[in-house]
Amino acid sequence: VLAPALAEGGLDPARLEVGGDLQRRFADAHEVFERRRAAGDLGFLDLPFDRETAGRVAEVAESFGQWFEDVVVLGIGGSGLGAVALREALLVPAWNERSDEVREYHPRLHVVDNPDPRTVHALFERIDPRRALFVVISKSGSTAETMALYLVARARVAAVVEAEQVRGHFLFVTDPERGALRTLAEAEGIPTLPVPANVGGRFSVLSSVGLLPAAVCGIDIDELLAGAAAMVEACRGTDLRANPAAALATVLWAADTELDLPIHVLMAYADRLRAFTLWFQQLWAESLGKVRGDGHVGPTPLPAVGATDQHAQVQLFMEGPRDKIVVFLAVDGSGVEVEVPDLHPDVETMAYLGGAGLGTLLDAERRATTEALRLRSRPSITLEVGSADARSFGALIMLFEIATVYAGGLYGVDPLDQPGVELGKRLTYALMGRHGYEAPDVPEVDERWR
Ligand code: PA5
Repeated sequence: VLAPALAEGGLDPARLEVGGDLQRRFADAHEVFERRRAAGDLGFLDLPFDRETAGRVAEVAESFGQWFEDVVVLGIGGSGLGAVALREALLVPAWNERSDEVREYHPRLHVVDNPDPRTVHALFERIDPRRALFVVISKSGSTAETMALYLVARARVAAVVEAEQVRGHFLFVTDPERGALRTLAEAEGIPTLPVPANVGGRFSVLSSVGLLPAAVCGIDIDELLAGAAAMVEACRGTDLRANPAAALATVLWAADTELDLPIHVLMAYADRLRAFTLWFQQLWAESLGKVRGDGHVGPTPLPAVGATDQHAQVQLFMEGPRDKIVVFLAVDGSGVEVEVPDLHPDVETMAYLGGAGLGTLLDAERRATTEALRLRSRPSITLEVGSADARSFGALIMLFEIATVYAGGLYGVDPLDQPGVELGKRLTYALMGRHGYEAPDVPEVDERWR
């Protein structure tokens, strides 16, 4: 449910109505979206309906899950953030620290994206490679960080198991036809799952990229996909009042381009959605932070968590530069409530809390912050996320993915490419001595970048 609660100094909600100018502006972005969908570029829209892949993922998860104590995802950017978001949103908190009984004998799930030697060293101190499955996720099969982590993991496994058992500790999630991981898998008989060619990294969480780690830990991927499918159906047409992704994208775009609010804060009032805000940050930043013919465009996404950030960033949101719009994520109950005991009815700073639930307090904090922002003339919108179960979470993921492509149309950039990231990758290859990249073909700084 999108509940636009735009402050004074925000947007007039009438502009979102049929016939309103924002509705007309969105129609152009919608046309771009439909053109790309027809051209087959938006493969992520088909993922919720791909029963075959879901079935294969469930099979693979079932066959591997029972053998391993630890599943280690090696993947970065769009190949890593989704698995963390799913683990944090849908498994019990501190999953990896829980006993086997609490995890119902599902494996622990580690996601290693950064080739920070300290992190990697510590991981191998904690896990037994003989009881670990390494899921190497790289669509291109060439990203330096992931390839390096794979090589480290492979050597660690090879050091403790028989040579013919090594491949049984690896699963590759990669392009169905191309890339080094694909070639290696075919040569060595390593099992693979595909990332469809028309699904980019940051749009891939509902492909094998996110589904396999989720399924292996017992997350109901059918529910996840059902929620996403419902959102695909809900996001049709140009009526901003009926298409939630359209409303979200258009309001955020207008906040940036008309109201000079280029910083888009996503503030979740639930610890379980903290990792989701980081997933959003990558999606929004890498898709929309682009240079267009007439200059730089793209909002800056900023993750935040309530109530924690009320004691950190919210002061800045209230009274710092007037350059932000806040999107609140309100979760309808966390599934558990913890009552605050009424221990000190005579201590004024505690008495009023006695008998209340922590969830009630958290929700009051959110409503109070929304109102406080309004009183400082800082616009916000609130997304009510239902119960944050697998179905709602699948819908939330799809909402933001569709909104991202709509926003690309509104900003006039291609949300599916990432030339800046690719430039950094080429320069890394050069510095590390990759054959063929000794003198990478990189353009010098010119006027466009100043
Ligand atoms: O969203 C993207 O396209 C990127 O963030 C990629 O996911 C990231 O660069 C990793 O790429 P790959 O999966 O090819 O290793």
